[in-house]
Amino acid sequence: VEETLVLIKPDGVARNLTGEILRRIEAKGYQLVDIKLVEPSLELLAAHYEEHQGKPFYEPLVEFMQSGPVVAIRIAGNRVIEGFRSLAGTTDPTDAAPGTIRGDLGRDWGLKVQQNLVHGSDSPESAQRELGLWFG
Ligand code: GTP
Ligand code: MG
Repeated sequence: VEETLVLIKPDGVARNLTGEILRRIEAKGYQLVDIKLVEPSLELLAAHYEEHQGKPFYEPLVEFMQSGPVVAIRIAGNRVIEGFRSLAGTTDPTDAAPGTIRGDLGRDWGLKVQQNLVHGSDSPESAQRELGLWFG
């Protein structure tokens, strides 16, 4: 069965939305396989966001991801990678459709980084790579 990595980013944890986000994942029917609270190292984040190194938002993104604890979750289900991306909504929470996690719970806070509550792996290759990084 397919698995993906979900992260509840520091804004989601700080806003006490962990339960609400887990509720949506469970209500959709995906299975929680593993879950933990993590304070990610610079090394972990550099590997996780490898594809974004050198982009203008990379430094603010990594700084934001170290601003507080992150909840790392391994979830499973048929087509869970695309299914969770659909639950999460588009990257910019202002544009994200109502009904999605980012669309219902996120907004622009006027900061350098897009605080968009969650991460979900974007392909089977990313999911395998990221699950290895966060869960070993
Ligand atoms: P993730 O699930 O977090 O990976 O989001 P995503 O796949 O929708 O976005 P992507 O992988 O392209 O970017 C990773 C993160 O970098 C995003 O979630 C945003 O927090 C941030 N980001 C991406 N693009 C931009 C951008 O154009 N400007 C800014 N400020 N931040 C961005
Ligand atoms: Mg991404």
